[in-house]
Amino acid sequence: MLHGPNLNLLGTRETSVYGTATLSEIDRDLKRLAEKEGVKLMIQQSNSEGELVDRIQKAAGRYHAVLINPAAYTHTSIALRDAIVSVGLPVVEVHLSNIYRREAFRRHSYIAEVAIGQICGFGACSYSLGLLAVIHHVRAKPKNKR
Ligand code: DQA
Repeated sequence: MLHGPNLNLLGTRETSVYGTATLSEIDRDLKRLAEKEGVKLMIQQSNSEGELVDRIQKAAGRYHAVLINPAAYTHTSIALRDAIVSVGLPVVEVHLSNIYRREAFRRHSYIAEVAIGQICGFGACSYSLGLLAVIHHVRAKPKNKR
């Protein structure tokens, strides 16, 4: 699980848009869900684009898939998109808010076109739904190609 920039501020950041759950609470729920599903989950947050690129590169060969909330880099980062394509790992994109109901600049995602799918608009629940989706995808392979 990769969390992008400013998500470390969840709980106090624009609560009318992102809700009041903190990142630690979201991570705790994700860990519980992963344990229940019997999967190993590594969680990292970074405010830096380059670090997220490094994490995606390092995931290759070590993890089966990547769940990511790229936050603002969703709308700007060709580097993240290229990293995803380069490693060839299945990626599920999640957002707390429904990015299609917000400002025009949020309505385009560079990641969506290279992800298996995207879940947005369900607040903290988007993460659990995303984790279940990515687990389902990995378990369904090789039937279910990227
Ligand atoms: C976000 C949506 C992005 O547009 C924004 O920049 C974020 C959070 C979300 O989870 O709703 O930081 O990814």
